[in-house]
Amino acid sequence: LASIEFDLSSVEVGQSVTIKWRGFPVFVRHRTEAEIEEARAVPLDALKDPETDAQRVKEGHEEWLIMIANCTHLGCVPVGESGEYDGWFCPCHGSHYDTAGRIRKGPAPKNLVVPEYEFLSDTVVQIG
Ligand code: FES
Repeated sequence: LASIEFDLSSVEVGQSVTIKWRGFPVFVRHRTEAEIEEARAVPLDALKDPETDAQRVKEGHEEWLIMIANCTHLGCVPVGESGEYDGWFCPCHGSHYDTAGRIRKGPAPKNLVVPEYEFLSDTVVQIG
């Protein structure tokens, strides 16, 4: 299947789930206000792969962060709610991602990849 639909309604604020899409694990995180604020407060010149928080989410749905769950270094699956930037930590070689999934420290060259997706309604997304 090229695309999948996912119902977000069971994912509480502060929770993440990992789903499968085209054989990839995909993180779906329901961010807290604090996580969103933390991500927005980061100046672009502090980022190795500069992207604003707004570029990584959909307008009006900023609480949802959807990303392919493979570290951009060598593809391990990072651990959520950990690392020095309150986002994800990849234990393979020590990459730290922030609450927008942006690389902040360690060998990974790029932010976690946001796949193509759209909201079909307030609670259903189509990925791919
Ligand atoms: Fe994640 Fe190397 S694969 S740091």
